[in-house]
Amino acid sequence: MSDGTDPRHRVDPAINSPGREGLTGTAPANLYAPSLARDQITIAPNLAPADDQPAWRQDFPIDWPQDLYVERRDFMKFLVLTSGAFTLGQVLIGLQNWYRKRAGQPAMRRIASVDDLAVGAALLFTYPDENEPCLLVRLTTSEFVAFSQKCTHLSCAVIPRPAEGSFYCPCHEGRFDLRTGAPTAGPPRRPLTRIVLDIRGRDLYAVGVEERAI
Ligand code: FES
Repeated sequence: MSDGTDPRHRVDPAINSPGREGLTGTAPANLYAPSLARDQITIAPNLAPADDQPAWRQDFPIDWPQDLYVERRDFMKFLVLTSGAFTLGQVLIGLQNWYRKRAGQPAMRRIASVDDLAVGAALLFTYPDENEPCLLVRLTTSEFVAFSQKCTHLSCAVIPRPAEGSFYCPCHEGRFDLRTGAPTAGPPRRPLTRIVLDIRGRDLYAVGVEERAI
């Protein structure tokens, strides 16, 4: 035999020659050439032929051999589209923040009476609107803090743990300092949004929202 598959055959020193695989890191040219029709490799869950599958399933095939069918152009298209969507999302968040700052502080709202909370207790309320859950915590007889309940990592709801001195985020084990809202563990990097409080007589009021970068 002279095709290079016979180990007794003299090895051709050319880097892409048959028989050099494994020695040089090269692979036979036919390894990447599709030798089977896609329908021979797999049957899609909806049983439709490969060409009738939705584009996303053609881009992300179920079987590894079908990955060979993803062209570089398709992959680049996917990268460009996802990067574009990500950039657009960031711009929208920026615009939303700019609009919030321009709109000024939200209206004052009564949260509770001082007597409603024992020391170490927490109370859930919403501010500045019904879609923004917040937590009020009584630290001492005279000290109260309030923060948005949304974790600054991916917006899961944090849980107050006054005995540990922290807010705990169960999604990715994030933790924030109970007194300052600063991140102390896990993936969050930004502090919890603080709700500015005002005590008038025996009543506690939310009077503003303080977004903090660090
Ligand atoms: S969402 Fe809170 S740690 Fe990830």
